[in-house]
Amino acid sequence: MTPPKRAPKHIAIIMDGNGRWAERRGYPRIFGHIRGSSRVKPIVREADRLGVNALTLYAFSTENWLRPESELRVLWKLLKKYFVKEFEELKKKNIRMRILGEVDRLAPEIRKVLDPMLEGLCQNTGLQLNLAISYGSRRELARAARLFAEDCLAGVREPEDMNEELMQHYLWTSDLKKFSDVDLVIRTSGEHRVSNFLLWQSAYAEFVFTDVCWPDFTPEHLRDAIREYSNRDRRYGQIEVAQPVSLLQ
Ligand code: IPE
Ligand code: IPE
Ligand code: MG
Repeated sequence: MTPPKRAPKHIAIIMDGNGRWAERRGYPRIFGHIRGSSRVKPIVREADRLGVNALTLYAFSTENWLRPESELRVLWKLLKKYFVKEFEELKKKNIRMRILGEVDRLAPEIRKVLDPMLEGLCQNTGLQLNLAISYGSRRELARAARLFAEDCLAGVREPEDMNEELMQHYLWTSDLKKFSDVDLVIRTSGEHRVSNFLLWQSAYAEFVFTDVCWPDFTPEHLRDAIREYSNRDRRYGQIEVAQPVSLLQ
């Protein structure tokens, strides 16, 4: 596909519906997670091929910690497997991977695989792949407020320094710089909600909801969503289709 004229630079996906996909077929929920985890690679490849600058995948929310231990164990196992299996390809494709979320809460055996991998990919300059793990937008914003307050107490900042641009500096997405704003959010599985995902960064994002569950989501579905995005009029509060305005005062 030739990239559409108005291609999204930053796409974020809420990869939802693994459990229902499995249950509808009479399988335990974990089958959905297994199949769902195998969908990540083709989507990353396609985003890379299409020249998307940043791809953020919501893999595990702060609220997902409340799921049964048996399900959590499978999710962590799959995540670890993904890291081990994909490192070489990500490296070869110049993909820079980072984690958005509470990395400190991840188990030591995950960190043992993850940390060297992040280190090995951090110099890459291609697609920026963000995995949102133990991520919650409210937690991210509360953390930002705390970090800023600490900087004020340390005399590094003054309260009146805070504005929309500086706020970005305290978010988990800070090193995405000009790509930190999300253009397109896709949610699979027919749910029409954001579930605590990128509330700040998606302030002017376009949303595409699809009934397809994540384990069935293919590069073709991604291209469909991009096509739909490219037909939207992004007005940013103005009257005609506009370039994003600086939201700074
Ligand atoms: C998304 O699928 C994966 C995670 C949240 C980890 P779900 O597990 O939420 O599947 P459904 O929504 O229950 O079908
Ligand atoms: C959102 O899906 C989180 C991820 C896809 C990782 P959930 O299934 O956890 O969200 P709700 O419960 O439908 O809001
Ligand atoms: Mg769900």
